[in-house]
Amino acid sequence: MRGAKTLYAYVNGKITPADKAVVSVFDRGLVLGDGLFETVRAWNGRPQFFGLHYARLAKSAKRLRLRLDMDAAALEKLVKRLCAKSGLADAVVRITLTRGRYLGGLAIDPSLPPTLIITVAPVSGLPPELYQRGVKVAVSSINKAAASGLDSAIKSTNYLANIFAKAEADRKGAYEAILLGPQGEIAELSTSSFFCVVKDKVLTPPIETGILPGITRQVLLRILRREKIPCGEVALFPGETDMMEEAFLCSSIRGPLPITRIDGRKIGGGKVGPVFRKLRMLYDRECEADASSAADASSAADEAPARARTQGLQR
Ligand SMILES: Cc1ncc(COP(=O)(O)O)c(C=O)c1O
Repeated sequence: MRGAKTLYAYVNGKITPADKAVVSVFDRGLVLGDGLFETVRAWNGRPQFFGLHYARLAKSAKRLRLRLDMDAAALEKLVKRLCAKSGLADAVVRITLTRGRYLGGLAIDPSLPPTLIITVAPVSGLPPELYQRGVKVAVSSINKAAASGLDSAIKSTNYLANIFAKAEADRKGAYEAILLGPQGEIAELSTSSFFCVVKDKVLTPPIETGILPGITRQVLLRILRREKIPCGEVALFPGETDMMEEAFLCSSIRGPLPITRIDGRKIGGGKVGPVFRKLRMLYDRECEADASSAADASSAADEAPARARTQGLQR
């Protein structure tokens, strides 16, 4: 395709054009699904809320006894470099960490180096009318906790439960699927976190429901608490959708996106509500604040060697 940008990828220390980047057929990420990933939105060439993404990755890596050899600053720098080299200001960044080479069997050998992969892609962007009209979602018959068999807080490279829940939603003509927790309560969606408004209070399922601790969910809860908007983490059931004045999903790539139907039932009369609109505006502001604080930090870091040099000269 003439004029198409060359996208670059990082694999274990090497940056190459993405279509030339390779990992071994013996990688445990491929053979056993033995790995983790993070999907991060980059804006103006900078990964958003990167501290939170790195913290989740590091925590999950520790839990799985996976080596994460790069610190947050080095990983962030690498992401920025890939975005710049690929000519992408706005990008979907995927960071994948696996347990490296498969030697047969399941035993964990901590001395083996992990595989670290980073890819960047343009944000395809949702049609803007979805933010104005909202989306319909369907409750899946798949119970996430039972299907994944492992701590849902880990963003593991095995997404089978979510893939099949999404396939169910597709068959019903729904945008995403709601996965249920162990008690049949709403847990999360196939690739996003769930929020709703009941009696003017913004509610989201608690982490104990077996959900991924979404970064966008965390950012929204921080905004809600700071703005003193009544909110809480409570169990919600599909049978309670009639009580919901509004509902929305959220993820790092899409931010908050309104839900106007669950299993064919209208939420908020099928219209996008005022709480969503306000939160969307506050979330966009939070993204801008994050970008400028990251810019401040990186210009301070850029100045740091110069200051150190001056001090060195003075001595
Ligand atoms: C199952 C699941 N829940 C929630 C989310 C939202 O997480 P985040 O806000 O960190 O993107 C995702 C995103 O991929 C997901 O796959």
